[in-house]
Amino acid sequence: MKSEDLIEIAKKARENAYAPYSKFKVGAALETKSGKIYTGANVENSSFGLSMCAERIAIFKAVSEGEREFKRLAVVANTKDVVSPCGACRQVMAEFGNFEVVLANTSGKIKITDVSSLLPGAFDLRRDTN
Ligand code: THU
Repeated sequence: MKSEDLIEIAKKARENAYAPYSKFKVGAALETKSGKIYTGANVENSSFGLSMCAERIAIFKAVSEGEREFKRLAVVANTKDVVSPCGACRQVMAEFGNFEVVLANTSGKIKITDVSSLLPGAFDLRRDTN
């Protein structure tokens, strides 16, 4: 699928964001190597720390359906520049290797990057234990 199409799916997913506290809605769409798409939107909570980002929801949905290999993740928010995923989401992305990440805003700005550029030196228990 083209990046632009994945961004459109993320934009649509963003409409389902539950963000009554921050009012900051984020949408994500994750394409697996097997060709499936898993979407996510942020879900907040009265106990703020329990809120979950769009990116992690998309990744956790995919992983809990048995997916392990990802091709591309698109993330969209109504930001001035493209949205910048939080550190926790970057670490969760890194768990599944170095796939492409397409960052966008709702006005059409796009930046194509990848997981290792977003989080150089990610912690990896599989590599770092002896
Ligand atoms: N948020 C995301 O869903 N993804 C990001 O990349 C940045 C932050 C959410 C978490 C919270 O619901 C709201 O945006 C404000 O931080």
